[in-house]
Amino acid sequence: MTTPQSQFLGTGSFLPERVRTNADLEAMVDTSDTWIRERTGISERRIADESMLASDMAARAAERAMEAAGVTADELDMIVVGTVTGDMQMPATAVFVQQKIGATNCPAFDVSAACAGFIYGVQIADAFIRMGTMKRVLVIGVELLSRVIDWSDRTTCVLFGDGAGAAVLGPSDGERGVLSACIHSDGSLAGSLKIPFGEKVQMIGRDIFKAAVRNLYSASQEAVEKSGLAPSDIDWVVPHQANTRIIDQVVRRAEYPPEKVLSNIATVGNTSSASIPILLDQAVRKGTIKPGDHVLMSALGAGVSWGALVLRY
Ligand code: UT7
Repeated sequence: MTTPQSQFLGTGSFLPERVRTNADLEAMVDTSDTWIRERTGISERRIADESMLASDMAARAAERAMEAAGVTADELDMIVVGTVTGDMQMPATAVFVQQKIGATNCPAFDVSAACAGFIYGVQIADAFIRMGTMKRVLVIGVELLSRVIDWSDRTTCVLFGDGAGAAVLGPSDGERGVLSACIHSDGSLAGSLKIPFGEKVQMIGRDIFKAAVRNLYSASQEAVEKSGLAPSDIDWVVPHQANTRIIDQVVRRAEYPPEKVLSNIATVGNTSSASIPILLDQAVRKGTIKPGDHVLMSALGAGVSWGALVLRY
């Protein structure tokens, strides 16, 4: 069994109030509620108002995570933001978050790993905490995908939603924390999911679907094996919320009981890098995930880039 070096001290999330239902989309493109629910598991998603920026959502999620962790902005040693829909091309969305939460003196930068952004961010935080150079790291996943979606393209517009999730990580108490992790990329599929400059999301859904099932299964197996736990020790699976059919195929292959697999895709859709931290925060606040529970997270997105980690929460 591995000894954790960093642990989650608190989580937070933020979802915009405005709901866009499948019925709303039926009025916009040639689709149906039945097709969307059966092919993806999504019933509705949240869409941010025009005045809202990614950093606004990220700052709200961050404040909730810091409150849960009992950590103030001036105690933060680093801010890592996973996003592909940040406020500007430059500077990093992380520095706008830094400004909004009043964290005056710490490095802040973005990670571009699409839907795997939060998993990548947690591993960066874990590495710095392991080195002993940092004690409080804020990791955020935030996406404002509604701004980069072609709302006349039925193959993509039904999938995505806006939102933010965050966690504060700190040194482990020796029991709780990140037990194992892995990250990977396969650039041969770089063209299958992209947002070219000045354009909207373009996706070859089938290619991404197949890559997701294959790689999320192998990364989950890799992370569990590295953790020293048996698959039956995993209490909760917190998978990236891209498509219920992807999740079902992965967990069936890995033989996790369906009642251990958490999901919120029906109400939030695919929020890319925000997906896992939103689901995690909801489960923690509901009391579903409790301190000491073993949690497996995995995500894959554009790149394709993917990863998994096992946590004793
Ligand atoms: O977050 C990580 C990145 N994203 C993903 O992981 C998404 C991965 N891909 C997927 O989830 C699925 O591929 C989709 C949900 C995007 C598409 O589902 P699919 O079962 O792979 O459908 P398909 O692309 O093979 O299309 C089947 C049919 C096509 O019609 P024809 O050619 O058979 O007549 C599509 O035009 O479904 C049609 N279609 C739709 N019909 C109604 C595609 N989108 C829609 C729609 N409503 N919204």
